[in-house]
Amino acid sequence: MQTNAKSKKVQARRRQQRREFLRSAGTLCCTACCSGALGQLLSSCEPRVVKIVGPSTGDALQPDAAATLLLSDYPALGSVGGAIKIAIPPFNDGRRLIIIRKSESEFLVVTALCTHQVCEVNLPAEPGANMICPCHGAEFSSSDGGWRDSPLVTSDLRRYPASYAAGREELTIRFPAS
Ligand code: FES
Repeated sequence: MQTNAKSKKVQARRRQQRREFLRSAGTLCCTACCSGALGQLLSSCEPRVVKIVGPSTGDALQPDAAATLLLSDYPALGSVGGAIKIAIPPFNDGRRLIIIRKSESEFLVVTALCTHQVCEVNLPAEPGANMICPCHGAEFSSSDGGWRDSPLVTSDLRRYPASYAAGREELTIRFPAS
């Protein structure tokens, strides 16, 4: 009888420990995926988008479709030259975007999809460096997404206009319908 009660107590304690472990692992994943260097390597974490305007009616995006990110959620963008990859479905067909901080107030936002055979191009290896496609080596400028010195591609990465409200630390990316 006593052994039975003891065993139930042990099981309850194990369940509690498992719950605590899962809770802390979840918190760690969200923090790590969305920030810093690890955030650049891992892409599965959902972005925190503070506001989405637009794509609420059917498939067609409205002309003013936009998503606003809170920059403090993305520490890699805290300094000039920082860059991240992020998917903000349904924009860009749900595929990832590259965001690069060009100056205190200017950001480049382009699709991460190479214009050759739609592999995902890499983030710049260092501030100012070109973005290189790992599949066949095409290069794109990290200042405007334009293609550079590659016989394989003849068009630039699709660019999305972005504006930054420094006071609120909000980056708004616009997604025109066409
Ligand atoms: S898919 Fe990018 S260079 Fe071929």
